Amino acid sequence: MIANRVPSIQVTVTDTNARRIAAWNSANLPIYEPNLVDLVKTARDGVDGKHDPNLFFTTDVDRAIAGADLIFISVNTPTKMTGHGAGRALDLSYVEAATRKIAEVAESNKIVVEKSTVPCRTAESVRDILAANGKPGVHFDVLSNPEFLAEGTAIPDLLYPDRILIGSLSNDEGITAAAALVDLYAQWVPRERIITMNLWSSELAKIAANALLAQRISSINALSAICEATGADISEVSYAAGLDKRIGPYMLKSSVGFGGSCYKKDILNLVYLSESMHLPEVAAYWKSVVDINEWQKDRFAKRIVACLYNTLTSKKVAIFGFAYKKNTGDTRESAAITIVNILVAERAKVAIYDPQVKEEQIWQDLWANSASLNETNECVSICKNAYDACIDAHAVIIVTEWDEFKVGDFSDSEINLPNGVNGHSSDPTSEKMHRGIPGTQPREPQTGLDWSRIAKVMRRPMFVFDGRNIVDAEKLEKLGFRVECIGNARSGSR
Ligand code: UDX
Repeated sequence: MIANRVPSIQVTVTDTNARRIAAWNSANLPIYEPNLVDLVKTARDGVDGKHDPNLFFTTDVDRAIAGADLIFISVNTPTKMTGHGAGRALDLSYVEAATRKIAEVAESNKIVVEKSTVPCRTAESVRDILAANGKPGVHFDVLSNPEFLAEGTAIPDLLYPDRILIGSLSNDEGITAAAALVDLYAQWVPRERIITMNLWSSELAKIAANALLAQRISSINALSAICEATGADISEVSYAAGLDKRIGPYMLKSSVGFGGSCYKKDILNLVYLSESMHLPEVAAYWKSVVDINEWQKDRFAKRIVACLYNTLTSKKVAIFGFAYKKNTGDTRESAAITIVNILVAERAKVAIYDPQVKEEQIWQDLWANSASLNETNECVSICKNAYDACIDAHAVIIVTEWDEFKVGDFSDSEINLPNGVNGHSSDPTSEKMHRGIPGTQPREPQTGLDWSRIAKVMRRPMFVFDGRNIVDAEKLEKLGFRVECIGNARSGSR
């Protein structure tokens, strides 16, 4: 992303991927994020002739660099898959390629801003490459300005950030460059929220923040196992702990495991950094945060198998949600990928429904992590709605906390099961597998699902494994479901 200096800010987003840029210039943006379309449209297309557009998307990288005062490097920094540090270190090849391009093209002074999450001291390499490759007389300042927004809340996080962090060298040039970036953010962020600091602290602060957030989730998930074993309830434990101001209530929701593009990647990078600095105890500490997360997913899958009488062969299970969290179509490191692959290995028939994730994305994720493509193709189906996924299923497994999976208030839904709650009424070979649920009009979910409709079509006994603790278990139990939550001994007491 490239911005000209205030006051008349023009932002040009440039990418070598023509398809992606075309999508940004179209009505169908390449990513789903609540309210993003409105924000982009206003800036990109202008408003009724009152505001001129000031957001541009282009593949003309050279021109975008030439015309910019500030250049934000916002490229991918995935985990390295081969070579030294494989599986832990960050792959900085895109950062280096972007840096070299800037050096090659720039004919006037630029402030280069690291927006991508990078290992501590990356700015040193960026400065070195720019100095060695830049045109004579062209000066570059390098700043660190990590991004803290979370998916699903990206727009409010952008408009009302907790803090903006700007790291610079402490010489005059560095401080002047940082002041220019402060002025840019001060257009909409109160100045007291814009923090300036040492370049290396800023780089490390981003990874530290993600590591601390993930560590809270792994801590609460570790406690959830103790709750299941003892009869305590993790929601109550986390509520009570979070009331302490020093702890606070956020990021303490027990779950099937955290996902997303950042936590695992950043912690493994911290592990790598610690190892490189000969700090094996520190490396082991942070590694355990990722290990607990893997263990939590596996533990949840084992519980499903155990509850379903230790065999899933040819049993249908419905997966509610494939995104790594609600309000995003992003599936990177989603717990759903691990859970589905374990269920496929158990030879279950897995029917997946997610309100936002595209079908091709689900297949890609499953294939990339599958032990056997044939088995995956044979066992998995993808449904257009939650109700269809449940037809003849033995269990519903909630992996993503989409609001539509909660227990809706459908007062007109009579619980009217043909064979009683515990009777099995469905025939796997019947037409309804293909047509949807008989005798009901397709109805859009309001604030949740009509679980009584689901109860009518599932096999008995009907299980719900709530990996997000979002359903009202008592209501579902009244409908005849057996509900297994994370960190709650409800089932353990049976
Ligand atoms: C995270 C950081 O929050 C953000 O500041 C950083 O810039 C990028 O990484 P993101 O990955 O989008 O953002 O989502 P976040 O809301 O932090 O959730 C990450 C994962 O943790 C999700 O799978 C979520 O479901 C899970 N989670 C979150 C829990 O299991 N319990 C919680 O209490 C909170």
